[in-house]
Amino acid sequence: MATAPGLRPYLPADAATLAALFRASVEELAAEDYDADQREAWASAADDEAAFASRLAGELTIVALLGGDVAGFASLKDNAIFDMLYVRPDLAGQGVGATLADAIEKLAAARGTKKLTVEASDSARDFFAARGYVAQSRNTVTIAGEWLGNTTMTKELAAPAAGGLQ
Ligand SMILES: CC(C)(COP(=O)(O)OP(=O)(O)OC[C@H]1O[C@@H](n2cnc3c(N)ncnc32)[C@H](O)[C@@H]1OP(=O)(O)O)[C@@H](O)C(=O)NCCC(=O)NCCS
Repeated sequence: MATAPGLRPYLPADAATLAALFRASVEELAAEDYDADQREAWASAADDEAAFASRLAGELTIVALLGGDVAGFASLKDNAIFDMLYVRPDLAGQGVGATLADAIEKLAAARGTKKLTVEASDSARDFFAARGYVAQSRNTVTIAGEWLGNTTMTKELAAPAAGGLQ
């Protein structure tokens, strides 16, 4: 059985690593659902590293580690929006995404959030559906001049267990 991923809070020194991980994740893990131009537009959100770092720092961002390496990250915006979830492509399929999503859901519930919303990429829609997220609307967004489809999904959160993640 492989080692379970560990988690820690985001640190400003992680910005460059997470920007590169974001780009690689989009380029490789979304390749079945988005063409090269769409992926390039999506990945370009990390081109301005200072802006990307400030987005990470402005949200509740957590980092997953696998065998000491940064394996993925996730962020919670305004306590209610599951904004980012990206796993390093060569470490996909080892429970990193699920561990990050579990933590984001617990953190949101601990803050009193009853419903979590995600704009799920087509590549992650089944991942979220399997976790109990329900599709609400289909969207088309423009990023850097490219049109990309995604799906707004929501999940009702259970009240936090006493002594859970704060
Ligand atoms: C979606 C993503 C986060 C999943 O991460 P991961 O670490 O590979 O997922 P896990 O290994 O934790 O998988 C957990 C479960 O989801 C399933 N799963 C993983 N990716 C899936 C996908 N794309 N579609 C359907 N099921 C998926 C796994 O089979 C596993 O199921 P199991 O519990 O029955 O074994 C990752 O593929 C990713 O970063 N994708 C590209 C970026 C992206 O689209 N992010 C979402 C933006 S909204």
